[in-house]
Amino acid sequence: MEIPDILLTKLKEAKHISVLTGAGISAESGISTFRDPDGLWSKFNPMELASIDGFLANPELVWEWYQYRKKIANEAKPNSGHIALAELEKLFDAFYVFTQNVDRLHHRAGSKNVYELHGNIIENRCFDCGRQFKSDSVLADNKLPVCSYCGGKIRPNVVWFGESLPQDVLQLADSSARTCDIFLSIGTSAEVFPAAALPITAKQNGAYVVEINPNVTSFSDTADLHLQGASGEVLPLLLELFLKYNKNESK
Ligand code: OAD
Repeated sequence: MEIPDILLTKLKEAKHISVLTGAGISAESGISTFRDPDGLWSKFNPMELASIDGFLANPELVWEWYQYRKKIANEAKPNSGHIALAELEKLFDAFYVFTQNVDRLHHRAGSKNVYELHGNIIENRCFDCGRQFKSDSVLADNKLPVCSYCGGKIRPNVVWFGESLPQDVLQLADSSARTCDIFLSIGTSAEVFPAAALPITAKQNGAYVVEINPNVTSFSDTADLHLQGASGEVLPLLLELFLKYNKNESK
């Protein structure tokens, strides 16, 4: 894997870095992606498990599926890609990670400016009154719990198909994409909008846009640079080379 000097030069000059991550960055932590050949959507039906209609039709099944995924996320560890990204953040004044992932691995790796576009699987909220339950204290056992205030069904605090993204997070992501110097699109198929619009917005507004993905996506041709490799390998290498470059430049 070659990291071209132009990226190191641009990183050195950059003031504002905006990052979009997707399931691919957590693949090396053992968490399945969605659209790879063995991904979750090859085995499960997203409309049954990740939509309001699916929840209303079979809330127990949806709850169990998210409990199963939550256990995997909780038992997973951040990988070298998450950790390198958290280290990179320390080198810039403005460095924002907008993630489509619900696993909280960026937080656990030490990233500070993390914004969840699709919510997270760790917290829950009431389907009826919206009250948030940040801890697992609502969960008596693995069965679908009900809200202690209104009796409504508890659901995971994620964004399902057909639901709006948190508007404050989306606005911040859009504004960061418009004003950043460098945009990194990491481990995402760039298929799901509105998140997939962010790298396009960045490119249209003059950012240098880099994709990190072992596979070609529909965005690869638009990116200024496609680093074709696993994020757990590319990001640590990028960090190492940038630290060396910084040191040499300041001599
Ligand atoms: P996808 O499963 O669509 O895409 C994962 C991407 O990660 C693919 O392009 C892979 O090539 C890439 N990939 C695989 N292994 C990798 C590695 N080691 N390093 C880097 N990249 C790797 O996942 P997302 O783009 O995150 O939404 O999907 C977006 C949304 O669709 C998800 O947030 C989820 C899903 O439906 C909801 O559930 C609402």
